[in-house]
Amino acid sequence: MIEYRNLRIALLGAGSVGSQVARLLLEQGEELASRVGAGLELIGIAVRDVDAPRDADLPRELFTTDARTLIQSADVVIELMGGIEPAREYILLAINSGADVVTGNKALLATHGPELFDAAAQVGAQLYYEAAAGGAIPIIRPLRDSLAGDRVRRVMGIVNGTTNFILDRMDTEGDTFESALATATALGYAEADPTADVEGYDAAQKAAILASLAFHTAVPVEAVHREGITSITAGEVEAAKRAGFVVKLLAICERLTDAQTGVEGVSVRVHPALISRLHPLAAVHGAKNAVFVQAEAAGDLMFYGAGAGGLETASAVLGDLVSAARRHVAGGPGVGESTHANLPIFGIGAVNTRYQITLQVTDKPGVLAQVAGLFSEHSVSVEAVQQTVASAEPGRSPGEALTATLVIVTHEAPEAALSATVAAVSSNDAVVRVESVLRVEGDTP
Ligand code: NDP
Ligand code: HSE
Repeated sequence: MIEYRNLRIALLGAGSVGSQVARLLLEQGEELASRVGAGLELIGIAVRDVDAPRDADLPRELFTTDARTLIQSADVVIELMGGIEPAREYILLAINSGADVVTGNKALLATHGPELFDAAAQVGAQLYYEAAAGGAIPIIRPLRDSLAGDRVRRVMGIVNGTTNFILDRMDTEGDTFESALATATALGYAEADPTADVEGYDAAQKAAILASLAFHTAVPVEAVHREGITSITAGEVEAAKRAGFVVKLLAICERLTDAQTGVEGVSVRVHPALISRLHPLAAVHGAKNAVFVQAEAAGDLMFYGAGAGGLETASAVLGDLVSAARRHVAGGPGVGESTHANLPIFGIGAVNTRYQITLQVTDKPGVLAQVAGLFSEHSVSVEAVQQTVASAEPGRSPGEALTATLVIVTHEAPEAALSATVAAVSSNDAVVRVESVLRVEGDTP
């Protein structure tokens, strides 16, 4: 029997996600109430335009443009407007009015997370954000709670569905980047302005959130090294395929020890990379997301599912709502964010990785030794070299300017040494051009 008073739920935003949250809350409220031990009463939905068409049929009387008044009478505020302001102001108002907050706003958390967590800790409020990374995939709570007794060493994820869809089309259909992006736009995966997705900003925000949780360290989004996928060519994807790799946009958060100082820190980066076609992340197709976690005691864990979508993301939001509501019923202060480790954040230069470098070189005696010498000078060990068909350079006389393609895969080496090697190779006279430089990530199972 439910004896607790009804909890008042305010929803900010009724777009793709908010409209599904409102619908499910109205349709399944009784079931959720049984799980919480209190009724969940949706007291209002703040939007910009109360007459705008919605994805779900929702009672007109719930809508308001007066978010501030709505927030001040709520026990739990669900923020699904997106953007920085006024979302930040509304969340602070909610916390300071005694409400718990649920949000899916990765852009806000990645830029103003510490301010919001501090405000919540001051008053013992809860701030839940399962939807902010990986959409429907439960990954925030596993990192925050289930793995709280372990030491996470690495989190490697495909956390942007749009770019995974594009790269998957390039891999499976042989599309160019431009035609795959056009398909992603036509199918509604990519926004009209796809910059945040294809340039890696969205993935960098999610990486900052995941790294902060995994390493108990506040990682601001500015500390995330970011590269997008706009320069990935159909040729690179095809060559990767022939070599047993697939190109993915990866968010990689890892715990590192500085070789010189012995100091432990973290590094967070987002960039396209080659992974073995046998790696579990290679099987993540279309717009799906997945996060591969390596922890000292638990070993390898994989979380997979829909990284976006109104209905799918609503599942994560409602899970957070149930948690927040249960705490209201049970009482007691909220659990604050854990940033006790406060590890230093290392730049990309400190990372150890592998490179695959594809070069066009002049095909004459001694060139391979010359190129190999440049790797050796920078203490970069070569794992494999493949030389393919010699071809005549356009505009040169036959026989004089034959070129060969060299594909060189290195052993793991510091990023700084690898990039210095690429710079030296690029300016070598025997090198006609550097066709591609891609990092290689993940062990080959
Ligand atoms: P939408 O753009 O579809 O919806 C935004 C909603 O917020 C609209 O209803 C809009 O009102 C309302 N809104 C915007 N600004 C204001 C304001 N100043 N005052 C009041 N209401 C406002 O966003 P989504 O539903 O796609 O995303 C919501 C959040 O969830 C974002 O933080 C997003 O990053 C996150 N998220 C989204 C996912 C997805 O698949 N869409 C996946 C994971 C997370 P109106 O309708 O009147 O214009
Ligand atoms: N635009 C994001 C993606 C969805 O393509 O994954 C919301 O995070």
